[in-house]
Amino acid sequence: MTGQNVEIGWDAARQANQENWEDRVPLHESAYGLDAYDDPDHLSDVVRHDVAVLEPFLPSNSLSGLDLCHLQCHIGTDTVSLARAGARVTGVDFSPSALGVASTLADRAGVDARWVQTDVLDARSAVDGDFDVVYTSIGTITWLQDLDRWAAQVSALIRAGGTFFIRDGHPALYALDENAQGLTTRYPYFGDGRAQQWDEESTYVGDGKVAHPRTYEWPHPLSEILGALLGAGLRLLHFDEGRMLPWQFSPRMVEVPGGYAWPEAERNLLPCTYTIIARKD
Ligand SMILES: C[S@@+](CC[C@H](N)C(=O)[O-])C[C@H]1O[C@@H](n2cnc3c(N)ncnc32)[C@H](O)[C@@H]1O
Repeated sequence: MTGQNVEIGWDAARQANQENWEDRVPLHESAYGLDAYDDPDHLSDVVRHDVAVLEPFLPSNSLSGLDLCHLQCHIGTDTVSLARAGARVTGVDFSPSALGVASTLADRAGVDARWVQTDVLDARSAVDGDFDVVYTSIGTITWLQDLDRWAAQVSALIRAGGTFFIRDGHPALYALDENAQGLTTRYPYFGDGRAQQWDEESTYVGDGKVAHPRTYEWPHPLSEILGALLGAGLRLLHFDEGRMLPWQFSPRMVEVPGGYAWPEAERNLLPCTYTIIARKD
């Protein structure tokens, strides 16, 4: 059965996840629409949305000239977009293939970027320098077991006065049965340390299949996410919840500008995303 809770150590789970993400890279390279980045004004929908939310919280109301570290940057489409919004970017991911595609994309786009291959939970020791902004979004911390360790990396990467941004799938959304006819809970909202084990040959874009279908994710309630960031010394500046998601979580979701949402009659029942902006004083 897929989605059941299992006991598995972090190293074994992370290795399975890394093999799966390596397999997804060539599929995503074909399906992410990379040609669009040949247009020097093109930004990903995710970054266009997030920069508009983030910039009012930056001291100069702009990313221009700021050092930004993008955690779990994948094939670099958002990283290149953040550079085009004015930041000096460093992309971090544990997948060498993803960083290879990201580096080629940045070169082709004429964008300066630095790429660092590391587990995000070891990011502080792997990445040189510190940053005005640490950014991560859409498909990130469910891949991590230990959010206190993650938040400690985030905090240690940010300069005093710097800013953290995350927008991701809402943990209440992740508790739902993606195949049910209504909004029916199926998976735990609260974690108990165990991983959710998935066996899925396909990925969220394109039709290709992966050779390593087994992955592990961890449910993290909002209280755990906020608690980890506050516990790492960050101060909450902004919290929001959204009705639209950049990927189709359920076949019942309908296309809306910038992504997918539940049918209109259900759109106010539950959030699809959360956004946190926090400061290191
Ligand atoms: C869903 S993708 C992020 C996607 C990104 N929002 C985008 O659309 O390009 C998740 C990324 O997290 C990376 N990842 C997963 N676990 C990681 C870990 N422990 N350390 C570093 N990167 C990790 C994967 O390699 C993958 O590139």
